[in-house]
Amino acid sequence: MLDITEAETLLPPIRKIALDAPPTVAMPSIDVDHGPRRHRTTTPGPERMTLEELTVAYSGKEAVKRVSLPIRQGEVLALIGPSGCGKTTLLRTLNRLTELTATASRSGRILLDGQDVDHLEITQLRRKVSMVFQQPNPFPMSIFDNVAYAIREQAMRRPGKKEIAPKVEDALRRAGLWDEVKDDLARPALRLSGGQQQRLCIARALAVRPEVMLMDEPCSALDPKSSAVIEELIVELKRDIAIVIVTHNLQQAHRVGDQVAFMYLGDLVEYGPTDDVFGAPRAQRTRDYVAGAFG
Ligand SMILES: Nc1ncnc2c1ncn2[C@@H]1O[C@H](COP(=O)(O)OP(=O)(O)OP(=O)(O)O)[C@@H](O)[C@H]1O
Ligand SMILES: [Mg+2]
Repeated sequence: MLDITEAETLLPPIRKIALDAPPTVAMPSIDVDHGPRRHRTTTPGPERMTLEELTVAYSGKEAVKRVSLPIRQGEVLALIGPSGCGKTTLLRTLNRLTELTATASRSGRILLDGQDVDHLEITQLRRKVSMVFQQPNPFPMSIFDNVAYAIREQAMRRPGKKEIAPKVEDALRRAGLWDEVKDDLARPALRLSGGQQQRLCIARALAVRPEVMLMDEPCSALDPKSSAVIEELIVELKRDIAIVIVTHNLQQAHRVGDQVAFMYLGDLVEYGPTDDVFGAPRAQRTRDYVAGAFG
């Protein structure tokens, strides 16, 4: 049998868990505060992209069904919904990445600044509509070269280091990473922390001066502190570009989204200002999803 002192030494150590926001003990209804709200845009900016009756199918089975949406500069559009409802498919279709999937087919129109994306040259489209993925995926090269690579790839002629250095700095500054890396840009990118790697990927996406940035669960592999840094960055960036973020974290959608689109089994069930979708959802399915996640 153990005596008391022996038992005490076997107890697990007390761990202090750092929180990025004060804990909420219980949320009785869905119209309570879901964490600190970032700055909301009240006047909509210019419409950058327009989705008209967009349908995407894999081997004939529809994953996105007749979705129509505007994507505006100065706004963050948060795309939410249960697993498998078509969020990634929708996002990847916006810069025609779904075309890489042999079984995928598409109907409906996607406009970028009023132009059908099917009529745009593909590298031009992907420069204007860039993507950040769930897992940070820096190239196995230096911090500098990760960003320089993106710039060189888009340039008509190969720019020299002197010409490229200010652009690299600018992208790293906009991604909120410059101060942490400026003293050693030659360091391998893969030695950065996960949060820094994701900001490097954002810098890479920003380096080509996109109009729209697509982010597929960009914080899901990150700790709360790095996520908070990226959320602040998203809100900062939306002044100049339109941002679409897919997230399973409804508090995050609430914090960063100006508009929220709720998808369910390929349907766009509800789209509207964040406070409306969370505070007074029109559809029962949205209500269930939002309440289930918060309540
Ligand atoms: N390459 C593919 N080939 C065939 N079916 C696919 C493919 N990619 C996705 N699907 C199917 O399309 C539907 C939507 O998938 P999608 O990845 O867009 O969902 P999601 O909302 O992003 O899910 P999650 O939240 O889990 O990431 C699912 O039924 C999925 O099985
Ligand atoms: Mg997905």
